[in-house]
Amino acid sequence: MSSPVTTKPFETTGPGKQVLEITDLKVSFPGLFKTVQAVRSIDLNIGVGEIHGLVGESGSGKSITAMSCLGLLPDSAVVEGSVKVTGHEINGTPEKQLARLRGGGAAMIFQNPMKALNPFFSVGQQMFDVIRCHRDLSKNEIRAEAEKALQAVQLPDPHLALKKYPHQMSGGQLQRVVIAMALACRPRLLIADEPTTALDVTVQAQIITLLRALARDHDLAILFITHDLGVVASLCDRVSVMYAGEVVESGSVGDLFANPSHPYTRKLMSTVPKLGLGEQSLDFIPGQVPDMSSPPAGCAFNPRCDMATDACLQPANKVLVVSKDTDVSGKHWAACHHVTGKKPSSETALSETLEEHNA
Ligand SMILES: Nc1ncnc2c1ncn2[C@@H]1O[C@H](COP(=O)(O)OP(=O)(O)O)[C@@H](O)[C@H]1O
Ligand SMILES: [Mg+2]
Repeated sequence: MSSPVTTKPFETTGPGKQVLEITDLKVSFPGLFKTVQAVRSIDLNIGVGEIHGLVGESGSGKSITAMSCLGLLPDSAVVEGSVKVTGHEINGTPEKQLARLRGGGAAMIFQNPMKALNPFFSVGQQMFDVIRCHRDLSKNEIRAEAEKALQAVQLPDPHLALKKYPHQMSGGQLQRVVIAMALACRPRLLIADEPTTALDVTVQAQIITLLRALARDHDLAILFITHDLGVVASLCDRVSVMYAGEVVESGSVGDLFANPSHPYTRKLMSTVPKLGLGEQSLDFIPGQVPDMSSPPAGCAFNPRCDMATDACLQPANKVLVVSKDTDVSGKHWAACHHVTGKKPSSETALSETLEEHNA
């Protein structure tokens, strides 16, 4: 059974620094007959206290991106590019060295909290173990930290919760326990991979409210992975839309929702479930996510795109999206040949603007 919380080591970040900096990340899985290109060059930055949503259909490379941030990829993965957490490079750093430095750089929570916890040990035993591994504290201090963390995630009666076994708690309570374990290690970055997908709508909303409060109160940066744009709208500051191993559009939540520019983003928006109608309201995107061992040439969405032309067989550059209603600072971009927004005068202008944003 895997550990409920995985932390990797890093010092506190300096003021104004990015907590997560992903540059030209590529992850592939070579096989005997074909190579799966799970992530094909992505750039992504998250600042202190910022909540960044990563959305896309199943198979688009979200979890592989998340695992890259913690050096958790399987040995079979070939990784290129750079992933820095609070300035520390993850790629190529030997596991031993990462383990030695362990202590609260980044933590990860997953979709199913039950799978992350050991059914044979009480919540308290598991929390104490995780805290002991990551922080140099006495027995009493560890217990106090565990209770404090359970309080921070608003679990009623932390003292009692520590004595319970996982099967004695609801899914929502367990997800709070897992978040508390992560918090007790004082991470700067929390990576949440579909943490609310398995929960019912009310509990989902409570966890989202909790994560927003934690980001604000603890200056915690969050990479929030979901296939649900509705969740992104209610939680995130910024969002990146991923398709076939690439980010195809990125912007502040306000800009992107006001002016979704990549046809894939617009299709994804039409799949947001309408409250009360459940699965029935889901409008699916025709076609399938491409086979990542032979992704389509050019813009990978072209076989499913209503707007596709011959131009789409060529790779699409990032284009600044500017409209009168939205932020004109250049923080919103899309990689599409048909983007209607103002194009930058040159690729240099775009990269300068994006660099400015990332600085
Ligand atoms: N260990 C692995 N070996 C080979 N291919 C993998 C492995 N893990 C993931 N993949 C492939 O990488 C792609 C991206 O997967 P993933 O990041 O899990 O997608 P998402 O989280 O967006 O649903 C998929 O095509 C998936 O089949
Ligand atoms: Mg996934």
